[in-house]
Amino acid sequence: MNNAPIGVFDSGVGGLSCVEELMRLMPNEDIVYLGDTARVPYGTRSRDTIIEYAKEDIAFLKRHDVKMILVACGTVSSVLDAIDSDSIGVPISGVVTPAVEAAYKATENKKIGIIATGASISTGAYDRQLASLDSGISVTGKACPMLVPLAENGYTSPDCPPARFFTEEYLRAIREAGVDTLILGCTHFPHFSEVISEYMGRGVKLISSSAELAGHAAKQLKDSGEAADRKTQGRIRLCCTDSASLFAQNVRKFLGRDINADIIKVSLTDKG
Ligand code: DGL
Repeated sequence: MNNAPIGVFDSGVGGLSCVEELMRLMPNEDIVYLGDTARVPYGTRSRDTIIEYAKEDIAFLKRHDVKMILVACGTVSSVLDAIDSDSIGVPISGVVTPAVEAAYKATENKKIGIIATGASISTGAYDRQLASLDSGISVTGKACPMLVPLAENGYTSPDCPPARFFTEEYLRAIREAGVDTLILGCTHFPHFSEVISEYMGRGVKLISSSAELAGHAAKQLKDSGEAADRKTQGRIRLCCTDSASLFAQNVRKFLGRDINADIIKVSLTDKG
């Protein structure tokens, strides 16, 4: 048993889709979340910058004595091979492997689509891992940068014309490719599930990379005997690097509700 918090980070609010699933699966766990809101988005930046930011985010969570780190950001997860995980001292996992494994299990026609940020798609991380499982899988990927600000502002429902417009614009080629499984490779995207499902057809299975990461973490904690043993609800701390009140508003827009959490502004050089 280990009552230390789980550390989770993303560039902004997207990784809260992972926190929501963690809270559902393991309500007694404490969670420290970092949204690097002063520097969002990450998905339009260079590989070197993303790696530099990720190292600072990891160091911040380490100072909170977390028992594991979940990279709830597809963009950082796509460059995780550049980070020396052994030197971190606690287990670290990103969204790519859990999402790829779930998609591989789900596909029947071996045609898989991936939508993510431009940075994630350009690394080819999802394609490589799928190819290593089965070279016969055909993968169609598409960068969907405009979905990030729409999600940040809560414009995700099928009634929202911009959400429909960009979904159709970005997903046309993936739909034409006849995929039966679509990886939502950016953690901002699960909130578009309804509009995406309407456009792709209900038969297409959507794989939420955030939910898969949360499921993977829950299993890992249980199997290693590191799950918390408290009987009460875990404490949720949401840290951001820009205004806490703006972050609180964006959290509400993104999740469509309030959650019981402390929201604080931190500096990545403080304990916070
Ligand atoms: N949530 C981040 C991801 O999963 C994307 C947002 C960004 O571009 O910063 O890739």
